[in-house]
Amino acid sequence: MESPAESPYRSSMNTKTVLITGCSSGYGLATARHFAAQGWNVIATMRTPRPDVLPLSSRLRVLPLDVTKPESIAATLEASGPIDVLVNNAGIGVVGAFEATPMSTIREVFETNTFGVMALTQAVLPRFRARGSGVIVNVTSSVTLAPMPLAAAYTASKVAIEGFTASLALELEWFQVGVKLVEPGYCPKTAFTSNGQSRMDGLIPEAYAAFAQPIFAAFAQPALVTTEADVAEAVWCAATDTSGKLRFPAGADALALAGGAGC
Ligand SMILES: NC(=O)c1ccc[n+]([C@@H]2O[C@H](COP(=O)([O-])OP(=O)(O)OC[C@H]3O[C@@H](n4cnc5c(N)ncnc54)[C@H](OP(=O)(O)O)[C@@H]3O)[C@@H](O)[C@H]2O)c1
Repeated sequence: MESPAESPYRSSMNTKTVLITGCSSGYGLATARHFAAQGWNVIATMRTPRPDVLPLSSRLRVLPLDVTKPESIAATLEASGPIDVLVNNAGIGVVGAFEATPMSTIREVFETNTFGVMALTQAVLPRFRARGSGVIVNVTSSVTLAPMPLAAAYTASKVAIEGFTASLALELEWFQVGVKLVEPGYCPKTAFTSNGQSRMDGLIPEAYAAFAQPIFAAFAQPALVTTEADVAEAVWCAATDTSGKLRFPAGADALALAGGAGC
């Protein structure tokens, strides 16, 4: 039987191709720009394609993708052609008292942050395994490095991906397929909080108000933060890593929690 490494399947013309989810803003957009600047082909996916947010380049393609919809995943991978790296960046947040968070909201968060990552991973794996190469980078969060209050549902969705990725990395090493984690800290500048605002309305009941107030006050004045560029750089390090490292904390606050240096 042909070993995966001897498979004739290869991306075209030695230029590597990355497919990134959630590129309409924030970390995904910065990551798309970074890989394009490094000379890679970039497939920047968005729920609602907006090519105008990216520089005009023959190396950049924008494709529609909603990670919660199997038919959208299939259509995007059909249109993308072969890829070398998948970056599962798309994510949504929710902050609030857990007892006030509707199960429908918790399921919504898991559909994107957890099951969306798993579904896309499963969709690219047969090709990666058959050709004996490929890297999957899963973007989680620094909430996986140290627990914070009022983020139980979001943390659960990301910690699930930490365990999933660590296990999968061992399983796919056999096929020379890499699986990595990027753990970004808090970036006040991305649209992450405002994108989740409607999901969070009413999630601090009166009984939690006095407890939540100083937490939100501290959140508004963080000592250390993460930038979009920090995350783009960490995803780049993860995608091109040859050391076998699994975790790539990104940003000053995440690095402080992880007790390590950047990549
Ligand atoms: N910002 C932070 O402080 C922070 C900290 C730690 C970790 N993170 C993680 O970093 C990642 C990126 O966050 P960000 O800060 O860049 O936030 P962002 O600006 O809100 O970007 C999130 C992206 O995910 C997309 N998305 C949401 N649901 C999707 C779906 N069902 N299918 C496809 N795309 C979807 C959004 O697209 P639409 O425009 O269509 O909504 C958007 O492009 C997320 O996984 C987040 O959990 C963020």
